[in-house]
Amino acid sequence: MSSSKATNIHWHEGNLTRDERWAALKCKGCTMWFTGLSASGKSTIASALEQVLVQRGVPAYRLDGDNIRFGLNNNLGFSAEDRAENIRRIGEVAKLFADGGMVTLTSFISPYTADRDKARAVHEKAGLRFIEVFVDAPIDVCEQRDPKGLYKKARAGEIKGFTGIDDPYEAPTKPELVLKPATMSVEDSVKACLAYLGM
Ligand code: ADX
Repeated sequence: MSSSKATNIHWHEGNLTRDERWAALKCKGCTMWFTGLSASGKSTIASALEQVLVQRGVPAYRLDGDNIRFGLNNNLGFSAEDRAENIRRIGEVAKLFADGGMVTLTSFISPYTADRDKARAVHEKAGLRFIEVFVDAPIDVCEQRDPKGLYKKARAGEIKGFTGIDDPYEAPTKPELVLKPATMSVEDSVKACLAYLGM
């Protein structure tokens, strides 16, 4: 975890506790952290889940790997250092959203165990639920899908350091939930997530 560069900063407590906020807003925040290869189905499942939750009146918000790189993280590339910073920032942002009462759905490749574990630690330290969801689609399935044509480019050497091709993906060893998009429909995956959330 990178420590703060700033000095002379002081934590300012708000006027209400998390419990007071959640009770008043009738919500309960947590983070569902979707990890898996590019084109494994993380964003599709997270989007479908977000839709169901919001339609049921549950505050939910999705932080998507590609989307976040258009704004907040547009100064980061795909080196191991940049991916670590990408995940560090999202771990922190997700924690804030979860604290605010959102069911926060993050869909990032997040290829390194150490980075995901830090995101988990940030949540656990804050007393927030962190649910790691491994979207476990084999590389050949992802490559066959290749909706953005990126695997093709990576195989042709036009993208260097592409996860699963010439960059590592460290699969979670103890995720709370495993989804298998090769054999499960998006609806089944959404049901599994809802069941895990007890909804
Ligand atoms: S992460 O590794 O830092 O977690 P993130 O989820 O934000 O990655 O972004 C992954 C997305 O960026 C992929 O789905 C793909 O569309 C795009 N992308 C572009 N270059 C790469 C690359 N070298 N490796 C993986 N994904 C890449």
